[in-house]
Amino acid sequence: MEILGIDIGGTGIKGAMVNVETGEMLTERYRIPTPESRKPDEMAEVIAQIVQHFKYKGPVGCGFPSIVKDGVCKSPGNLHKSWVGVNIDELFTQAAGQPFTVLNDADAAGYASMNYGVGKGKQGLVIMITIGTGLGSGVFHNGILLPNFELGQIPYKKYKKIEDWAAASAKEREGLSYEKWGKRFNKFLKLVETITAPDLIIVGGGTSKKWGEFHHYLDIDTKVVKAELMNSAGIIGAAVSCLREHHHGQVV
Ligand code: BGC
Repeated sequence: MEILGIDIGGTGIKGAMVNVETGEMLTERYRIPTPESRKPDEMAEVIAQIVQHFKYKGPVGCGFPSIVKDGVCKSPGNLHKSWVGVNIDELFTQAAGQPFTVLNDADAAGYASMNYGVGKGKQGLVIMITIGTGLGSGVFHNGILLPNFELGQIPYKKYKKIEDWAAASAKEREGLSYEKWGKRFNKFLKLVETITAPDLIIVGGGTSKKWGEFHHYLDIDTKVVKAELMNSAGIIGAAVSCLREHHHGQVV
């Protein structure tokens, strides 16, 4: 079965067709920059354009960069604050004319890794960390998703949330080298390790493409691996998860 998966980020909104039996992406990713306003209506319009681009009819799975509970946005993340309280499922379903199921973007990326990637069959506590505009976290215990963990929201020094100091957007904003930024990211992983004692950490999101530039700065005790599905995991996981009534970590 082929399902359209969409991954919404702070800088780009990306879609592709996915074979949900195998977890393979069947088309190129189609990307439209996230509208600068980052407001609901403008973003919904982009979503409709992506659905139209694929001339797609059917259920759509969509990763969204904030807390999503029963289809409703519960925190602004790095988007406009008017998102809070919006029923995203309904807004996108109306805008695109196809039924949407929306979940947190890092949960979606983790979902793909747990079913088709490096997390497959892994027991214990596995944490997917996505590096992009924000720091996302998708947490799985014995393959089951514990939705909406927000490890990037840990306060740190003068920062309200550590992602403001250690996400890819901080690297860009401050013009940091991979060494400087990699050490910050390592500090974040150390906090994650102290708080959650995970068995495995999987690093995904846009910046994971640059793994070779920074992995040698990561020296925590927990095993840390790169998500081999990398940037596509969000799309694949979103497509697959929309077929499940409950967002468990395993395809059953
Ligand atoms: C949000 C998370 C999201 C992450 C990655 C953070 O700002 O709070 O919900 O998963 O960014 O997009």
